Amino acid sequence: MSQRSIRPRRLRSTPAMRRLVAETRLHPADLVLPMFVREGITEPVAIGSMPGVVHHTLDSLKSAIAGAAETGIGGVMLFGVPLEKDAVGSGATDPDGILNAGIRAAVAEAGDALVVQSDLCLDEFTDHGHCGVLDALGRVDNEATLERYRDMALVQAASGAQMLGLSGMMDGQTGVVREALEGSGFVDTAILAYAAKYASAYYGPFREAVNSSLVGDRRAYQMDAANRREGMLEVDLDIAEGADVVMVKPAGSYLDVLADVAASSTVPVWAYQVSGEYAMIEAAAANGWIDRERAIDESVLAIKRAGADVVLTYWAVELAERLRR
Ligand code: PBG
Repeated sequence: MSQRSIRPRRLRSTPAMRRLVAETRLHPADLVLPMFVREGITEPVAIGSMPGVVHHTLDSLKSAIAGAAETGIGGVMLFGVPLEKDAVGSGATDPDGILNAGIRAAVAEAGDALVVQSDLCLDEFTDHGHCGVLDALGRVDNEATLERYRDMALVQAASGAQMLGLSGMMDGQTGVVREALEGSGFVDTAILAYAAKYASAYYGPFREAVNSSLVGDRRAYQMDAANRREGMLEVDLDIAEGADVVMVKPAGSYLDVLADVAASSTVPVWAYQVSGEYAMIEAAAANGWIDRERAIDESVLAIKRAGADVVLTYWAVELAERLRR
C-alpha cells in the first residue's frame, strides 16, 4: 500500500461525510446561560460591554428563562446586582436580597425544564468589590469569608437553587459549604466548584455587568495565569471537599488546564467562556473583521473538544437555537 492511499481528505469530502466523522458534538443540554438580575430597575438594561446581554428585572428574568427552557439548554447561572453594597455584602444573605429573590423566581418559572444555579460569591455585594470580607489590613480574610459563604449557601439553597457556583477562590470553601448543606438537610443541593479560576483580564466586561466597585485586583486569591500544575491541586482539593462538578475558568485561554482536568477528574468538568471572550468576538464581528457565527461555533466547540462536559456561555440560547435548526 503506497503512502498515497492514506488520504485524510476522503473523510472531508462532503458536508454529510464531515458530519458523520465529527469527533466532537455540541448539544443544547451541554450549555448553561449566565444571567444577571438587578434590583431597582423596571425594564431590562443593556450592558454596554456585552452587546446582546442585559440586566434583568425579576419579570424579564422569568420570561427569559421560559424562552431559554424552550431551546433545551441545560441550565442557567444567576448573578445578582443589588442597589446597596456594604463591607460584608449583607445583601447576599438577605433572603429578600435580589439574588435570592431571583433564584425563587427562576425556580418557579423553570420547573424541571432546566437546572437553576446561583453564583456564590460576595463581590457583587461588597462596597470594596472583593470576593470576601477584609481584615484590619485590607486583605481578604479567608476564614471570615468562609463564614459568609456558609450563610450564603444556606439562603441560596433555601431559596431553591439546585446547584451553587462557588466562584470566590477561598481555601476550603467547598468543604465548609458542603458541611453546612449536609448539616441543614440540603443533601441534594449540588456544588459546582470553580476549582481552577484564574485572575484574568477577560473578566473585564463582567465587572461592568455587575457594577463592580473593585479597586486593585484579585491576584491574592485567584490563580496565576502562569500555573498549569496548580490547576490540578485546586481540582483535587475541591473533589476531596465534596464538589459535585469542577470548573475551569476562563475557558479559551486555559484549554491546556481544561484538558488536564478532563483527563483525571472523577466528577464532571465544566468550563466558563467568560465575558471578555464574548466581547472580543462580538466586537470583531461588529467591525466586520470576523464571521460572527462561525467564530462563536468554533470557540465553543474548541472548549468541548478540550474536554469540557458543559460550557457556560453568554451565547447558550443562540447556540441552542442554531443547533436545533
Ligand atoms: C465572581 C465572578 C466573576 C465572574 C464570574 N463570577 C468575576 C471575577 O472573578 O472578577 C466573571 C464572569 C465573566 O467574566 O463572564 N463572582
